[in-house]
Amino acid sequence: MSEAGKDRKVNINWYPGHMTKAMRQMQEDIKLIDLVIELVDARLPLSSKNPDIEKLSINKSRIIIFNKSDLADDKATSLWEAYFRDKGYLTVRLDARKNSGMKDINAVVSKAVSEKTERDRKRGIKNRPVRAMVVGIPNVGKSTFINSYAGKACAKTGNKPGVTKGKQWIRLSKTLELLDTPGVLWPKFEDEDTGIRLAIAGSINDTILNIDELSATAVSIFKESYPGILETFYGVDETKDNYGVLNDIALKRNCLKKGGETDLSKAAMLLLDDFRSGRLGKITLEIP
Ligand code: G4P
Repeated sequence: MSEAGKDRKVNINWYPGHMTKAMRQMQEDIKLIDLVIELVDARLPLSSKNPDIEKLSINKSRIIIFNKSDLADDKATSLWEAYFRDKGYLTVRLDARKNSGMKDINAVVSKAVSEKTERDRKRGIKNRPVRAMVVGIPNVGKSTFINSYAGKACAKTGNKPGVTKGKQWIRLSKTLELLDTPGVLWPKFEDEDTGIRLAIAGSINDTILNIDELSATAVSIFKESYPGILETFYGVDETKDNYGVLNDIALKRNCLKKGGETDLSKAAMLLLDDFRSGRLGKITLEIP
């Protein structure tokens, strides 16, 4: 993504107070936990992985769920799965809205649980349920996942990144209890591209972002990583610069102001919506 990075100006600094509080709570709760189930966004698995949670869960069994894999590039997801397995994680790809994926989750949880049960047995502990913490950044699909996995609407879902949800334990069976946690980001992105990818995917509140700049950056990423995709979808000329492409999208999609002038902001939002909803295609924003 080096070429695309040249004209990036999106400035993102996002860490509301309630996330500090939630992180502190998680530092307490982790003491009770055997297994950390971390949801990442399959379109940006590394950028959507909270490094603070990484530190927190270092001595626990860890599962990574590549959620929204229906929106991601399957080849890229395979590369990411291999990458994280190498690092000792159990991995599974998922569309949390579908109940069908829950079989795979069960298999992976059973594997993680069996390791823990074995450890317990060696220490003479019997029949203690496994306690799993479900973690992930805002909007990654945690509530949707818990609803599908627990089989009933026990976690509230919503589409506002950053909205805190109360702490809750969910008893799935005699052997497994889940702790839902609020979606949290971390105070400082180690490189600018991380924040940009999160913003493009919709994990940062759009109201604090410059959507025109963000969308122009998205154009540069799509042109570089998926050449031809904008041309095919919108009929635009990809050889133009990023704002030129946005202008073309505005023309093709009739995003015009009253005087007939192109409405770049409208085209910018349209492009982000088309990406976020998967209409533009299965796209991954980073590869290992
Ligand atoms: P959160 O608790 O982590 O904040 O996320 P939540 O479950 O509220 O999900 C955020 C949005 O992502 C929801 O869409 C949800 O439907 C969608 N989503 C969750 N998992 C997946 C997945 O695997 N694939 C796809 N394509 N989408 C997923 P929304 O538009 O905010 O709400 P709604 O229109 O579904 O009601």
